[in-house]
Amino acid sequence: MNISFDFRGQTALVTGGGSGIGHATARAFAAAGANVAVADIDRDNGEKTVEQIRAQGGTAEFFAADVADEVQVKAMVEDVLSRFGSLDFAHNNAGIEGENVPVAQWSSANWRKLIDVDLSSVFYCMKAEIPIMLAQGKGAIVNTASAAGLIGGYNLSVYLAAKHGVMGLTKGAAMDYANKGIRINALCPGPIDTPFIAELPKPYRDRLIFGTPMDRLGQPEEMAAAVLWLCSDASSYVTGHALAVDGGTVLGGMGTRFDDLVALPA
Ligand SMILES: NC(=O)c1ccc[n+]([C@@H]2O[C@H](COP(=O)([O-])OP(=O)(O)OC[C@H]3O[C@@H](n4cnc5c(N)ncnc54)[C@H](O)[C@@H]3O)[C@@H](O)[C@H]2O)c1
Repeated sequence: MNISFDFRGQTALVTGGGSGIGHATARAFAAAGANVAVADIDRDNGEKTVEQIRAQGGTAEFFAADVADEVQVKAMVEDVLSRFGSLDFAHNNAGIEGENVPVAQWSSANWRKLIDVDLSSVFYCMKAEIPIMLAQGKGAIVNTASAAGLIGGYNLSVYLAAKHGVMGLTKGAAMDYANKGIRINALCPGPIDTPFIAELPKPYRDRLIFGTPMDRLGQPEEMAAAVLWLCSDASSYVTGHALAVDGGTVLGGMGTRFDDLVALPA
């Protein structure tokens, strides 16, 4: 992909930067010249991302934090500000997937864990990031929601609830700060080729691909390109938007493809 952004002298924070979408976004920010704060609960993977960025001549630091813990998030964001001197972009992205069972089979403990990690985290991150951006008079935030933040899905109720919640937070926050120089948008990935998807049972993965009109998983770099666009001046009039980068997943599954019909036995 040959699109370039110039973020030199600016700071980007990426949560979940040790793997998958966050890893690709951290590297893309660094390639665009930003100082990158790689935050993750997984120190080994987070530090690997930092090493790779430095090996390519970029600037990055690792910040350990559990995004489900408000105190850790606040301390981490303050640490980023004191080490880099500004916070221009934040990709609030860390997340987990939870179980794949009908809603009545979910344990309440797992409900709370998924809501903490996938939804409350975004609230804690924005609560810590926005005052800094307000003081600077500018900033851009991208929250990772999901296609599951826009449509339904089988055996995904709790994840759907968390990701629809991320959409609500994104829309409300976007309105709260729209006239204060801060743009807040959501990335809604379809099925992306990361450890998150690799860990699913194969029939489940195959079904996800089947439900994607482009017939393939997305690549983390395709998510990073969208995040950088949402942070750049190229999207200067875009806020509160749910950007589906999903190979067509959210278009819905009514009807049957012509090639499926041809492949069916008579
Ligand atoms: N991969 C997909 O198909 C897909 C689709 C839609 C949305 N998403 C969303 O994209 C985001 C990133 O997913 P991914 O596919 O890159 O997954 P991934 O598992 O490859 O990476 C997630 C990263 O988040 C970190 N993390 C998990 N819990 C954390 C916590 N409590 N505190 C700090 N860091 C934590 C992990 O250590 C890991 O490095 C998630 O929010 C996920 O819900 C993924």
